[in-house]
Amino acid sequence: MEYTDIIKNRYSVRSYSDKKITEEELHYILEAAKYAPTAKNKQPHKIYVLKSDEAIEKINSLCKCIFGAKTVLMVCYDKNEEWTSPLGDNFQSGLVDSTIVCDQMMLAAWNIGIGSCWVGYFNHNEVEKAFNLPENIKINSLLLLGYPSEDSKPMESKHSVYRPMEEIITEL
Ligand SMILES: Cc1cc2nc3c(=O)[nH]c(=O)nc-3n(C[C@H](O)[C@H](O)[C@H](O)COP(=O)(O)O)c2cc1C
Repeated sequence: MEYTDIIKNRYSVRSYSDKKITEEELHYILEAAKYAPTAKNKQPHKIYVLKSDEAIEKINSLCKCIFGAKTVLMVCYDKNEEWTSPLGDNFQSGLVDSTIVCDQMMLAAWNIGIGSCWVGYFNHNEVEKAFNLPENIKINSLLLLGYPSEDSKPMESKHSVYRPMEEIITEL
């Protein structure tokens, strides 16, 4: 698919078909994480794949925004592996790095006809605890994956409202 089509036509899928994505499709999406840029190439991201009935049930009990997805990526970063700026402003890159990773996977999924929804509405501490993540592993977001259901469509109020370019871009 053309890159412009991917970024303009993608929308958050909030209704999934029961059919699971294939291992090949999942691999293609996960590979997009491998090639993502990260600060100083530290690659602090860690991705946990939730697709067993048990894991999907658990995440459903902790997050109201799973929308019937059968595959959920828990996109995390390792506090021990992220880059810390030496310039005294305490900037740490893990959150930014893992956000880029999540975005690349989201676009890779759409490129092969798989829908996704980026989800941040859950208690991060509770989810980290429920999945027994080590202390140094922090969750950025959940990325839901699946085939859009037949009646899936963009949520008007949350998709098709764009700020004008002049409002978001300032030349200095
Ligand atoms: C950081 C982040 C957190 C989000 N959290 C949620 C969420 O918890 N639940 C949800 O339904 N959508 C969530 N979204 C999806 C946004 O609502 C959606 O991307 C936005 O409304 C634009 O719509 P579109 O993706 O259909 O273009 C999130 C998106 C981002 C980038």
